[in-house]
Amino acid sequence: MRHTALLAMPGRGPRNEKRKQVVPNLQKCIFSTNISFQGLCQMDKYKKSEEVLAKNRNFISGGVVSVNRATLPEIVFVKGEGAYVWDADGNRYIDYHAAFAPHFLGHNDPYVTEAVLRVLRDRASLYGSGTTVLEGRLAELICRHIPWVESVQFLNSGSEATYQAIRLARAVTGRDDIIVMQGGYNGWHNDVCCNLMTPLERLGSRISPGEYRYEPISAGIPLSHQALVHPVNFNDLESVEYVCRKYPIAALITEPILQNIGIIKPLPGYSQGLRRLADQYGFILIFDEIKTGFRHSIGGYAQIANVTPDLVVYGKALANGYPIAALGGKKGLMGWFVHPDASKRVLLAGTYNAHPIPTAAAIATIERLLMHDGEVYRHVECLGDKLQAGIEAALRRFELKAVVARQGSAFCVYFMDHCPQDWHDLASNHDFQLDGALRRELIERGIYFFPLATKQCSISSAHTSDDIETTLRAFHETFASILAR
Ligand SMILES: Cc1ncc(COP(=O)(O)O)c(C=O)c1O
Repeated sequence: MRHTALLAMPGRGPRNEKRKQVVPNLQKCIFSTNISFQGLCQMDKYKKSEEVLAKNRNFISGGVVSVNRATLPEIVFVKGEGAYVWDADGNRYIDYHAAFAPHFLGHNDPYVTEAVLRVLRDRASLYGSGTTVLEGRLAELICRHIPWVESVQFLNSGSEATYQAIRLARAVTGRDDIIVMQGGYNGWHNDVCCNLMTPLERLGSRISPGEYRYEPISAGIPLSHQALVHPVNFNDLESVEYVCRKYPIAALITEPILQNIGIIKPLPGYSQGLRRLADQYGFILIFDEIKTGFRHSIGGYAQIANVTPDLVVYGKALANGYPIAALGGKKGLMGWFVHPDASKRVLLAGTYNAHPIPTAAAIATIERLLMHDGEVYRHVECLGDKLQAGIEAALRRFELKAVVARQGSAFCVYFMDHCPQDWHDLASNHDFQLDGALRRELIERGIYFFPLATKQCSISSAHTSDDIETTLRAFHETFASILAR
């Protein structure tokens, strides 16, 4: 059986040529290995999971409701508590996937759960008319603790938030073009649904200064729209400046750390350089802190880097797994959502925006993060430190060429001799097969790393030192087993 990861990597011709729309193959492998996965599994270990998936496939296209959830092994999870998840066959895992990172306090954190139950007991509902006390309380909490967020709006998902941030930037600047990062992920909509894990053969040589072709990861994106989007390397100010000189740029959107291809950190001065270029060329600097916000600090990575974005979006760890996102910035920008001139007003609407359940969950999550002077952050830093040191020791023992990249609770093991600076560097040097094999063997040992090479792993505050030790034992066994083959 071959491992397949479901992210499409279709392509098109050079920007200046007349381009043909290529129909993406949504099931195309961006990572595949000949290592037999079934050979690693105990017989029937996932029998019930397989039954559920087989049934669901009859009614759900592909059997899953978010294409990136289709993985091998095909595990159906039924319960999550703290640092652990259980599957339909009763197998327990120490979870480092955290559902693509929201569960910073662990699954079903009792304090957050109690806040949600309270809302239900109080019969709070979705009213769809006027404001609510809850949304006001959440907005105030965010604005009080994050200096560059003077005003905020709530949406249901990260993609909605990045969509609105870009639309707002276009309205404010009167420009249409935007800059995105090769190797960044900012959601599923037309502006940003491109250039994530683009295969090297499509990408070609590293381009700097310059821009890459828009490589859509979905069919159905109009070519006219693609022409407005300019992907550049992360950590490459020269390319940002090159694009700014060529096009009228409305916004640059970036994860402050690339966390959808592991952990790629900004080089010293890079984030500050983006701020400088935004001021110089008049574009809106949007930090997509959907993954980094609240996980690395209350103010996200911008606080750590000491760089002020114009607009910022949060999601995931904001509500510890409940569906809500926030878009915030200075009042002067956010005011365009209620601009007195109707022709300039930016439409922000949503039936479910600030639904009471995720809103209460977000308030409770932030309260938990603030408790005992940020004890949660100290705890995960300690665990991250221990895990990193342990993995590095194992790598040395087995003489493997690899590095651990980490920011607090988020980490990734790269099988290359340095921490990558951008996707091109990563794609050129990383051993994807070894990464995939490591992940699948860890899963067999009850350690859930998402089984797709380069995906970032997340520690939660519910993890314990014992969990880290168990994980490190599994690493040793896994390396020994892989090297014995
Ligand atoms: C950095 C970043 N931005 C935006 C998104 C999109 O968020 P959502 O899946 O909630 O739409 C994601 C999702 O993984 C993300 O990691």
